[in-house]
Amino acid sequence: MLAIRLTTGPERLDTLVLPVRPGGPADVGASAELVPTPSALPDDVLAEAAALAPAARLTGRAGQTREHLRPTRTPERLLLLGVGDGDEHGWRVAGAALARAARAEPRIVVALPDGAPAAVRGLVEGLLLASYRFRLTEAGEAPALREVDLLVADAEAYRAVVDLARTTAETTRLARDLTNTPSSVKNPQWFAGQVEAAAAGTPDLHLRVRGPEELAAGGFGGILAVGGGSASGPRLVELDWRPADAKRHVVLVGKGITFDTGGISIKPRDAMKLMRKDMAGAAAVIAATLGAARLGLPVRVTTLAPLAENMVSGSAFRPGDIIRHYGGLTSESTNSDAEGRLVLADALAYAAAELRPDLLVDLATLTGANAVALGKRTGALYSDNDELADELLAAIAAAGEAAWRMPLAADYLEHLGSDLADLHSSPAAGAGSVTAALFLREFTGELREQWVHVDMSAPSWAEGDDAELTKGATGWGVRGLLRWLATLD
Ligand code: BES
Ligand code: MN
Ligand code: ZN
Repeated sequence: MLAIRLTTGPERLDTLVLPVRPGGPADVGASAELVPTPSALPDDVLAEAAALAPAARLTGRAGQTREHLRPTRTPERLLLLGVGDGDEHGWRVAGAALARAARAEPRIVVALPDGAPAAVRGLVEGLLLASYRFRLTEAGEAPALREVDLLVADAEAYRAVVDLARTTAETTRLARDLTNTPSSVKNPQWFAGQVEAAAAGTPDLHLRVRGPEELAAGGFGGILAVGGGSASGPRLVELDWRPADAKRHVVLVGKGITFDTGGISIKPRDAMKLMRKDMAGAAAVIAATLGAARLGLPVRVTTLAPLAENMVSGSAFRPGDIIRHYGGLTSESTNSDAEGRLVLADALAYAAAELRPDLLVDLATLTGANAVALGKRTGALYSDNDELADELLAAIAAAGEAAWRMPLAADYLEHLGSDLADLHSSPAAGAGSVTAALFLREFTGELREQWVHVDMSAPSWAEGDDAELTKGATGWGVRGLLRWLATLD
């Protein structure tokens, strides 16, 4: 990964990046000006760059880049970087554009303004997220940007925010790696092993992994039913960040279907081809928990990732089966492709009955209806708790992600009825994302009012590079969750 360092005087100055923003002298028709950066840079270089911004017709919009070569002089290359109005989002877009513009250069120096931690946070996140590439092997590694020196007047002042941004980006990148990994590699056991490796060595971070026998003994019927058709048995990962100074306890739950064929109610081929991403919710909550631990956030976070592969085989569960979930509620499952809610139901019921946290949040690639309702970038957020919903929505937006509140509409409750079981798990009532949320709510017990569900099927994947997103898994949810967890103390 790209190394990012704070410095007050770089060792070498090959490429110097200078931020520009909208503004500048009106008499020359210019619309961009240099952002003041108080670090020690030669006056002649700054003067040259200041003249360049209007001459190059820059507007200063976030993400604009313009390269200027000065052969045989130092620095050899000036790169003007538009940062827009200077808010965190603009700097994140700028950092992403910079990662792409400087892709072929091993090392760059970026001059930064004083007293602007949000700018530094945005820039670092943008750089680290946009330079992400998923690689199964090291073979054929292209030359890439390796070192970024952040040139500042006072390195100490930015130390903490750089660490925060780096941890946020690293854990988002981990969620992307897990989600991009092909399902030939990524079975439940492998996923649990990755969590174990990532958690190792962090004090106060505890891991318990339940296999099929323990799940059977514990009564986790939903996870066992969904995982029953696969040669790779299911797991339940329980990762607990338990700092001594925690006042509140949050449980995060993430859907971890390592591949979703749809089961016996098999998916059509186009709908199946990307279903290795069906564990993006589990990846996000695990990564956010690791982030909370690495940052030492003073909140207890227990993360549950029910992991199963939804396959077609002689041991697969059948449409029409009745499933007995953790805690005893039963569901009639007429569509084996509605598997996510079955594994989540066990985890939510277990959390509510045994862990009894203050707050309960689940993330899941739960329905195609998420994208139908809200498009490709926006998660669907459900909660009966207005305050909690607003806090999460605000954290998600501040982090540069998007979610929209959706109703737990009572109109659909009647469709959750079943003649044979307590609940019907896949009512054909339309509003697929809403009915899935209503189903989950039945398992939240006494935490019903302290629960948030986010359907993140749509924003978990990007069809192409765009700002800090790279084609493929986005790691959606890690940034928003980390921001939110940091507000709880
Ligand atoms: N994993 C899918 C949802 C999904 C679809 C995620 C597209 C990402 C992109 C989920 O398990 C599923 O199959 N949901 C069904 C539910 C239906 C059978 C009630 C759906 O959305 O069609
Ligand atoms: Mn499915
Ligand atoms: Zn699924």
